[in-house]
Amino acid sequence: MKFFVDSAVVSEIREIAELGLADGVTTNPSLLAKSGRPYAEVLREICEIIDGPVSAEVVATEAPLMLEEGQKLAALHRNIVVKCPMTIEGLKATKALSSRGIRVNVTLIFSPLQALAAAKCGAAFLSPFVGRLDDIGHDGLLVIDQIVRIMENYDFPAEVLVASIRSPLHLLHAAEAGAHVATLPPNVIKQILQHPLTDAGLEKFLADWHQTKQKI
Ligand code: G3P
Repeated sequence: MKFFVDSAVVSEIREIAELGLADGVTTNPSLLAKSGRPYAEVLREICEIIDGPVSAEVVATEAPLMLEEGQKLAALHRNIVVKCPMTIEGLKATKALSSRGIRVNVTLIFSPLQALAAAKCGAAFLSPFVGRLDDIGHDGLLVIDQIVRIMENYDFPAEVLVASIRSPLHLLHAAEAGAHVATLPPNVIKQILQHPLTDAGLEKFLADWHQTKQKI
């Protein structure tokens, strides 16, 4: 399973990359706005840190302009993957961009049939938002299971990139379901590394070793 960092804050991304846990990055207009910096500068910096896919989203809503913006974003760096929303215009842009050899991450997917349509339109990545489905009382994890199964049934090249992950349990389920990628907020990445029994066990080991007065 690939871990992408879901952030546009370069310092956060660098920290996770130094752990060896950043196979890519996903940004979106909200995350880029939150960075408070010019989008092209941030994206180029991220692409220099990450030797993997870096998603950058178009903000136009009509296909011709999405195509123009997508080509502009893709020209920033070879690692850029263009994000298009799961709309009719977004699918038209996905088809146009992918036919020009530009990888597309179709985002804001909330149903298995949206994912199927996006895969048929040439998406390289499919981003179902599990947390936002849970937020409205829908079963986001079921949607992940369904999408992974559909992709396997028809051998689509599209990778299932689980997004809107709010907890380690979302990641656990995505991994058990066989999703190719999980895009993780930095705090969730840190949460999965910690366990109270690890801390207690290490404390005991070191206390016992300290008693020996030895040095390695
Ligand atoms: O990449 C999509 C992700 O940033 C959305 O997460 O928590 O805003 O639903 P969230």
